[in-house]
Amino acid sequence: MQDPKRLAANGHEQYFAKTADKIFTAPGRVNLIGEHTDYNDGFVLPVAINFYTAIAASKRDDRRIEAIALDEAAGKVSFCLDEKMQLDNEQPWSNYLRGVIAEMQSAGLLLTGANMVISGNVPLGAGLSSSAALENVSAAALTGLSGEALGGRQAALFGQAAENNFVGCNCGIMDQLVSALGESGKAMLLDCRSLETRMVAMPADCSLIIVNSNVKRGLVGSEYNLRRQQCEQVAAHFKVKALRDLSLQQLRAEQAQIDPVAYRRALHVISENQRTLAATEALSRGDLTLMGELMAASHSSMKDDFEITVPAIDTLVSIIAEVLKGRGGVRMTGGGFGGCVVALVATELEQQVLHAVEQKYYQQSGLKADIYVCQASAGAFSSS
Ligand code: GLA
Repeated sequence: MQDPKRLAANGHEQYFAKTADKIFTAPGRVNLIGEHTDYNDGFVLPVAINFYTAIAASKRDDRRIEAIALDEAAGKVSFCLDEKMQLDNEQPWSNYLRGVIAEMQSAGLLLTGANMVISGNVPLGAGLSSSAALENVSAAALTGLSGEALGGRQAALFGQAAENNFVGCNCGIMDQLVSALGESGKAMLLDCRSLETRMVAMPADCSLIIVNSNVKRGLVGSEYNLRRQQCEQVAAHFKVKALRDLSLQQLRAEQAQIDPVAYRRALHVISENQRTLAATEALSRGDLTLMGELMAASHSSMKDDFEITVPAIDTLVSIIAEVLKGRGGVRMTGGGFGGCVVALVATELEQQVLHAVEQKYYQQSGLKADIYVCQASAGAFSSS
């Protein structure tokens, strides 16, 4: 596969007949554990990955944005920075760019017009945050060209606000924040309430494998927003700000008073917060056995209590778990209803895992998996 930076740079020369002033990048992410905890003010443990989106950009003398997405059919948009940003149903990818511009301008950042050519290799619609990568790289490119200072936390908040206010997805902060501030060779424990981070070195002799189930994700937006409402319903019952503020004991004591579905949603979130903190310790000690147990418990909780897995994903997880036998972990990663599983495995098992997926997944599900062996990588705004 060709390097997105080179593709974007070449595209810029081709479409704008000059060399780009600068090339900007932002990575996708995979979450090791801590699913649907971010919008409950909880904890997540994601990693920025070596799949990313690049923008080759140059300054314009007028107030226009001329943006071309090389990976989209006829993916060209042209608009003025002084227009009110409107949703574009014909070029939906551009809504991430437009939303970030709207948020940055309403925060008072002074942006200049730009030519932008975009290319990326984060698999689209696979739950690996290609949209957060596009938001962050757009923010980096536009502030970079305009000479406005922008830190990673603020960029992530702009990206999340673009999703919440412009695109219409009530996502949390995880994807944007790790894509902005991830570090090479490290996972990030993020406290989604304070936005404090603790970087944890990925253990040596361990491989990070992502397997894309290639299940077409349906209903993601509506089911996602529904899960969020159910969580908020339980927090409101207890009159607390978020599920982060509740213990399992408090939840159990009120079980009879809570709608049974909402109860199971909360059970997942509160137990997942505990697992995420325990997994951070396990990872920092290089304890792949405990990590494996926690990832397995996380998967079961997503399957039975949060109900966001699908049969093909459960099949993939079983195929990989059978190989690992405690020497690593595997679980669904991301928002759910398809997408990818993440496995953290002793490197000596890497080939066996790949082999088992190739041998069994198609046979059992009728779908072909894509496998990415990844590295933990630097975020768009981090120095490492
Ligand atoms: C999506 C959202 C994130 C997070 C995950 C689930 O990726 O964008 O904010 O809620 O789902 O953990």
